[in-house]
Amino acid sequence: VARKTVWIGTNWKMNKGPSEALAAAEALKSYQPPESVKPFIIAPFTSLQVVAEKLKDSDVLVGAQNMHWEESGSWTGEISPGMIEECGADIVLIGHSERRQHFAETDWTVSRKMAAALRHGLKPLLCIGESLDEYDYGVTDETLARQLKIALHNVAVEDLPNILIAYEPVWAIGAGGRAADTDCVARVHTSLRQVLIEIAGVEIGGRVPLLYGGSVTQDNARSYVEQPNVDGVFVGRAGWNVPDFEKLIDRV
Ligand code: G3H
Repeated sequence: VARKTVWIGTNWKMNKGPSEALAAAEALKSYQPPESVKPFIIAPFTSLQVVAEKLKDSDVLVGAQNMHWEESGSWTGEISPGMIEECGADIVLIGHSERRQHFAETDWTVSRKMAAALRHGLKPLLCIGESLDEYDYGVTDETLARQLKIALHNVAVEDLPNILIAYEPVWAIGAGGRAADTDCVARVHTSLRQVLIEIAGVEIGGRVPLLYGGSVTQDNARSYVEQPNVDGVFVGRAGWNVPDFEKLIDRV
């Protein structure tokens, strides 16, 4: 039986300027992942072009961490979809919780960015996740369904095969976080799958890759990927060092 396709990515966040990123890409270039795994790295803007060029013919896809929805104009400090495309990136992260939390990203901006990314042939990696308060109040499913439905509102059903979704509970991310247990992730992913099927039908909604992220490590990555409806993991800290990232992938 063929193993399901497993997406394993790392978000470098605000780490690795051009020279450090180039060295990391150089190291990743010759990496051969197991056949069923699709690895990707999400680089900061200033490193995007060098990394994308270096990894062009490799097995590793490259993505940006954020994007504006407009093509151009008076938006100081922003980067357009066309600029990301021109750098040679394949993927763009949309709605990471650190953007929602600290940089006023809203469901509305996420929704516009999703449509803009797809228009440019970029593969959006949509991040959704409930806060600790929402988790404690027991409104995880409602929160995620809201985030998902608004994010996909401007996306045509036929474009859904081109997106990735990461479930990243805010309370599980970063140094203060604790990884969600596998039962919780399996339950949430099943509920997300239902929402996707409701939106797009079984054929398409049943196939959109759903990744888990939040304190994923070499030791726990496999336990998530073994769950039904978990099609990969999205890693932060445990993937910043290239040999560690490769080891994590090899252990899944
Ligand atoms: O984008 C990745 C997530 O924010 C996970 O970060 O693995 O360092 O908790 P973390």
